[in-house]
Amino acid sequence: MDSIEGILEYKRSHNIVVFAHNYQSPEIQAIADCVGDTFYLAVKANDIECDAIVFCGPDFMVEMTALLNPDKKVVYANPAARCPLAAMCSGEDIEMLRKEYPGVPIVGYLNTSMDCRSKVDICCGSRNCLEVVRSLDSHEVIVIPDENLAAYIQRCVPEKKIISWLGFCAVHEYIKAEDVAELKRLHPKAEVLVHPECTPEVASLATAVLSTNEMVERAMNSASDEFIIVTENELIHRLTEAAPTKKFYILPKAVCHTQKKITLHDVIRAIETLEPEVKLDAQTVIDARRPLEKMLTLDALKNTNSVKSEGLCVSSSL
Ligand code: 13P
Repeated sequence: MDSIEGILEYKRSHNIVVFAHNYQSPEIQAIADCVGDTFYLAVKANDIECDAIVFCGPDFMVEMTALLNPDKKVVYANPAARCPLAAMCSGEDIEMLRKEYPGVPIVGYLNTSMDCRSKVDICCGSRNCLEVVRSLDSHEVIVIPDENLAAYIQRCVPEKKIISWLGFCAVHEYIKAEDVAELKRLHPKAEVLVHPECTPEVASLATAVLSTNEMVERAMNSASDEFIIVTENELIHRLTEAAPTKKFYILPKAVCHTQKKITLHDVIRAIETLEPEVKLDAQTVIDARRPLEKMLTLDALKNTNSVKSEGLCVSSSL
């Protein structure tokens, strides 16, 4: 497997599929069959024909994929890529919230640990968080673990009371409103596309608050020619591929060091060895899969997933 063609041929002949999140490096995206935001990757993971999946993304995405594919080998490209946000809320924390707010439904962002996911009522991604919260028949809703995402939901769904948790994504939390304002000053005609994990001060400068796939779709479909991209800066690769004639301005300091732990060398090794595989006990699969399936069923009912996301999967085999 000493060339891209060699890797692609090996994958095909062994019926292995590679998934990669939008923040992965361009060379990893080039050998991936499916590239997207977390929610899109969950939708695809729920409907895939193959023998094994090598996942290039943080632990919670790999484990989410394994939950949806208990009959397949699901392999970490690099198990050291562990998301700090996902570790900020535990199963015990959820039990404590249940005692403090009896009867209040708990929405778990896809960026959660397995332990935590086993105990929430329904999952959501950055793309569908508003639909998920609006679907719940309760005035009060707990949203874990990202406080900024919860605050964004609260602003968009004022008819409900959102109870949040004190978690945050360091990449988005440390993006400063002054830095975004400076880019706006330099590029006044640009649309400002902001991820919902950013602080309310940064989100207040946005033209639109969007998931990473939605940013790519917006860049393709908007009449604007210029965009300030307020998320992890590797998204620039997807953006320039999707809209090559448009201009994108990024925040160079917005780097996800967790996702950057995964190298092309790791991915090739994982494809060759199919190790390390995600191992889940049967009860975890039952418990942690339930809120994921609830989210996917809701989305299928609303028919909002694949139609909007189509065209972003880079493989003809998917
Ligand atoms: P998206 O699902 O919008 O790609 O965001 C993922 C993420 O973890 C951002 O920090």
